Amino acid sequence: MLLDGRTAVVMGAASGVGLVTARRFAEEGARVVCADIDAAGAKEAVRVIEAAGGTAAAAECDVSREEDVAAAIAKAVERFGRLDVVFNNVGIPTPRLGASLEEHTVEDFDRLVAVNLRGVFLGCKHAVLQFKRQGGGGVILNTGSVAGLVAWGGSVYGGTKGGVHQLTRAVAIEGAPFGIRANAICPAGMPFTNFMAAGGLAGSEEAVARVGANHPLGRPITAEDCAEAAVYLVSDRAANISGVLLPVDGGYVAR
Ligand SMILES: NC(=O)c1ccc[n+]([C@@H]2O[C@H](COP(=O)([O-])OP(=O)(O)OC[C@H]3O[C@@H](n4cnc5c(N)ncnc54)[C@H](O)[C@@H]3O)[C@@H](O)[C@H]2O)c1
Repeated sequence: MLLDGRTAVVMGAASGVGLVTARRFAEEGARVVCADIDAAGAKEAVRVIEAAGGTAAAAECDVSREEDVAAAIAKAVERFGRLDVVFNNVGIPTPRLGASLEEHTVEDFDRLVAVNLRGVFLGCKHAVLQFKRQGGGGVILNTGSVAGLVAWGGSVYGGTKGGVHQLTRAVAIEGAPFGIRANAICPAGMPFTNFMAAGGLAGSEEAVARVGANHPLGRPITAEDCAEAAVYLVSDRAANISGVLLPVDGGYVAR
């Protein structure tokens, strides 16, 4: 039980990495607020966690709206008495798969920045405010991407993830005197989540083969791969690890 007695907020808990990680956090003893713009999906995540004997509460939350993020974090404190972990995991893909930089409209750019970068900024901000109210300590985990570590063509999406990485490092440095840690996981291609559905690729055999072939280890990345890294980074086993951008990528960025 690596997270016994901890309270965690998982943003984007209705699907993919967020759903599997919320379940894993609960299995490790955490009480979990499952936050998502998809209110029914967040409730279903709670049902799944409770059916397995865990403790959870749902929060409808659009991470691009400050009042929603503040309310999701306040819910953790109201329901479970304190806040220990915030996982800022929400990210949306490029609206048209394969779109080049010049094919992005200003509306595409603003939407990607609002959800992927502002959402993480807000999650970090309200986590730090609550951690400081409690007297310090606390862990932030953000979901970046290999697309923020190396260029692969998803220019604006990659730009938002590069921003997430730099925010993570800055929060780690600012938070360190208060005992606050901040890290990021940086996944490579996960064809099993809803994320790739925009391109009609999610779950297809073609996607699994194509994405897997991009990784030196030869397999696609799974939400479970990310959840295991997440459990470790938010647990006390990583008590002296902060400011790290951990690729979960089958060797992709080492190439
Ligand atoms: N799937 C991949 O190939 C891949 C690769 C690298 C990084 N990532 C990153 O991993 C993270 C998780 O992605 P996933 O693959 O699990 O995707 P997913 O689409 O399965 O899950 C994303 C969740 O976020 C929720 N969401 C979307 N917009 C929201 C908003 N404004 N406010 C609150 N919730 C919102 C969705 O309802 C969904 O439940 C994202 O940050 C994504 O950028 C994904």
